[in-house]
Amino acid sequence: MAMQRFLIILGAPGSGKGTQCKVLAQNNPTWKHVSTGDLFRKEISSGSEQGVELKKLLDAGQLVPDDTTMGVFESQVDQLISSEKVDFLMLDGCIRTKAQAKFLKELCERRSSEFKKPTIVELNVPEEVLVKRLTGRLINPRNGRIYHIIDNPPKVAGICDEDGGPLVQRGDDKEDVIRKRFQIYRNERDPILEVLDEQNKLIVIDGNQDTSTVTQLLTEAIKKLA
Ligand code: AP5
Ligand code: MG
Repeated sequence: MAMQRFLIILGAPGSGKGTQCKVLAQNNPTWKHVSTGDLFRKEISSGSEQGVELKKLLDAGQLVPDDTTMGVFESQVDQLISSEKVDFLMLDGCIRTKAQAKFLKELCERRSSEFKKPTIVELNVPEEVLVKRLTGRLINPRNGRIYHIIDNPPKVAGICDEDGGPLVQRGDDKEDVIRKRFQIYRNERDPILEVLDEQNKLIVIDGNQDTSTVTQLLTEAIKKLA
């Protein structure tokens, strides 16, 4: 069976994880984007009972419990690898706590014939830049497309270029909630790196450059791992 590798994409809220993973997946068909945040927002849009509970947590900038998150995560991974050829699974915000890092480590050990040791990449961007990015972000909740009112606007204000439907602001893109999300990221980052024992091999990319430069740097770093 072919081996695949997890790429843990770390980075504070707004650092460009989603933007980059979407472009990389488009450019490289065997690189798959896994975003627990996108999966939770999809569940919220479905109007299910679980979605109502998730919305409360996301809008408050709080983490979803580890058990729920890792269940959703593993089933998404299994679905992707069973249906398509995969070389890299780009984990966008999927690993956010020490317990989740342990879960991933154990999953790789348990299924060592399928998964190579994970690699960690971090997008580094100053927090004041991130606040501007997040307060100006608009998304299409139907297809996950990401815009910015100034830096990456749609052709027609408030309308998605792709499906012609309305763009919305995320419920957690309010400054007080954004600050809370930064705090969680700051607290959880080091414990995650400790568990995965990768601190020295961590690939840090300056995410405070234009989108295409960051894409190029990420592509080069990932291709070196192949
Ligand atoms: P999630 O959706 O993953 O949110 P996040 O981690 O806070 O990150 P963001 O999506 O806000 O930022 P991003 O890095 O993707 O930036 P983007 O590319 O959009 O998670 C949401 C919530 O779900 C969590 O708070 C939690 O409640 C829950 N959750 C998810 N996973 C969980 C887990 N594992 N455990 C527990 N709970 C979990 O870019 C941002 C903006 O900047 C855009 O407007 C974009 O156009 C712009 N931009 C991007 N790159 C550039 C650039 N290079 N230059 C200029 N502008 C740029
Ligand atoms: Mg995102």
